[in-house]
Amino acid sequence: MVGVMQVGIVGGTGPAGRGLAVRAAASGHPVVIGSRDEGRARGVAADVVAAWPDQHVEVEGRTNEQAAGCEVVVVATPWDVAVATLRPLAEMLDGKILVSMVSALLAEGREFHALLPSRGSMAASIQAAVPGSMVAAAFHHLPASEMEQLDRPLVADVLVASDHAEATRTTLDLVDSIEGLRGIDAGSLSQAGPIEALTATLITVNLRHRVHAAVRLAGYDTRGEHGG
Ligand SMILES: NC(=O)c1ccc[n+]([C@@H]2O[C@H](COP(=O)([O-])OP(=O)(O)OC[C@H]3O[C@@H](n4cnc5c(N)ncnc54)[C@H](OP(=O)(O)O)[C@@H]3O)[C@@H](O)[C@H]2O)c1
Repeated sequence: MVGVMQVGIVGGTGPAGRGLAVRAAASGHPVVIGSRDEGRARGVAADVVAAWPDQHVEVEGRTNEQAAGCEVVVVATPWDVAVATLRPLAEMLDGKILVSMVSALLAEGREFHALLPSRGSMAASIQAAVPGSMVAAAFHHLPASEMEQLDRPLVADVLVASDHAEATRTTLDLVDSIEGLRGIDAGSLSQAGPIEALTATLITVNLRHRVHAAVRLAGYDTRGEHGG
């Protein structure tokens, strides 16, 4: 049984943040949705709670600074503002687990392309900007539309990459606590680049075929048996 962890989501008022907030809260974790505008965050949090009256989800809306004060912090801003948003919070994030679900993507019509951020991934850029935190990359491949609908079953693998064992372990615990998700330790933060880039292909597939597919690794059974 995974312990309860307080999850703060910086930039949590968008679809990705809301989706993760509702799934994490439904798994028993208190969630703080962060925003540049506390009033906006309060409104979004109230909407999330009201949408699922039978689930007793604990979701609050606060500022990004307050979200960054939580035990585990997730960044869910657009990619091109993630570093600038987190840099002023660096001191607060010292020693904390910081989960990046950010992918640098460019939309061209109905196709998405992966961009190459400095240092090879958004997660590595964030780790460099907030060096005292323990960054883990995760949650990139989950369609927000599916995450937000608690009444839709979710079956997906979540690839987790980090240079910090504690960040990997805690992020896997958070993933595994969410029904239908399976966390997979994908290795060091150098894996974040290909993980983030795969998001472009997945969204393109979803658009082309009008589906909400996620990632599932065939042949992966028991974590730990083949660990390297
Ligand atoms: N959408 C998905 O299905 C999905 C799935 C997995 C991962 N992701 C990743 O999650 C991240 C967020 O995706 P999203 O679709 O939720 O994005 P979004 O709606 O465009 O942005 C999320 C939030 O970021 C804040 N934000 C916007 N512009 C900002 C700026 N200039 N400076 C600071 N904060 C700003 C906004 O919150 P406030 O205005 O309230 O501050 C906004 O609600 C992306 O990096 C994406 O790659 C998305």
